[in-house]
Amino acid sequence: MIILDNIYKAFNGQRVLDGLSLRVNKGETLAIVGPSGTGKSVTLKHMLGLLVPDSGEVLVEGEKMICTTGGQCAHLRDKFGVLFQSGALINWLSVGDNISLPLIEKTKMKDDQIAARVSEVLSMVEMDGAEFKMPAEISGGMKKRAGLARAIVLEPSILLYDEPTSGLDPVLSRKIDRLIKNLSDTLGVTSVVVTHDLVSAFSIADRIVMLHGGKVIEEGTPEEFRQSKNPTVVEFIDAQFNYDK
Ligand SMILES: Nc1ncnc2c1ncn2[C@@H]1O[C@H](COP(=O)(O)OP(=O)(O)OP(=O)(O)O)[C@@H](O)[C@H]1O
Ligand SMILES: [Mg+2]
Repeated sequence: MIILDNIYKAFNGQRVLDGLSLRVNKGETLAIVGPSGTGKSVTLKHMLGLLVPDSGEVLVEGEKMICTTGGQCAHLRDKFGVLFQSGALINWLSVGDNISLPLIEKTKMKDDQIAARVSEVLSMVEMDGAEFKMPAEISGGMKKRAGLARAIVLEPSILLYDEPTSGLDPVLSRKIDRLIKNLSDTLGVTSVVVTHDLVSAFSIADRIVMLHGGKVIEEGTPEEFRQSKNPTVVEFIDAQFNYDK
């Protein structure tokens, strides 16, 4: 379980998170939606301890995330697998080597065990046999899937996805949605998906929260979210589904 409690964060005097509180329950998939620049990626970075709040607390599985100098948070960070917004494959390494890196850094696995694990996670993202492909040779959708394979290779208990479908066509986007859902079902992980894409949020999330002005302005199941009377939520939904409004 992840708890963000009353988080404030400003950059250069500009407040981005303004008393943000939210909770991600164990095993659920939470979608965080909201307009560009509203602090979704900043929120994810707080969960990971990559950003430190000006005030407020981040708790991961009951432990306070303290990533300031002298704080201990590496063991909490190790619980997470992350698919960053950019995909973030290392361009001069093959897909297989990209996915091997966390295993080399964090485990004592031997070369043949590493190769077997890489092949296993590539298969989970439907990229069997793609070990020797270079990032420049593969499509955007494959890059996302390779990034996803890397995110799950250490069997994290929490998966964070930052805009997993952005830049992909609708067919590929739905394929990524199915993968996220399958991973959540088969691995039983807790997942947080930041997305603009409401089709995706509605199809994969157990709960949806909407951020606006640095706070959570709506929270509920997809059905509850769809029926929200909050004008900002209604406008956000209409902008994606009702073109004639
Ligand atoms: N490290 C940083 N230093 C200064 N400003 C930052 C930093 N990180 C984020 N910001 C600012 O915080 C605001 C929120 O950024 P964030 O990346 O969280 O938005 P977002 O909701 O993820 O948007 P998008 O949907 O476009 O990805 C933006 O105004 C951004 O410029
Ligand atoms: Mg973002």
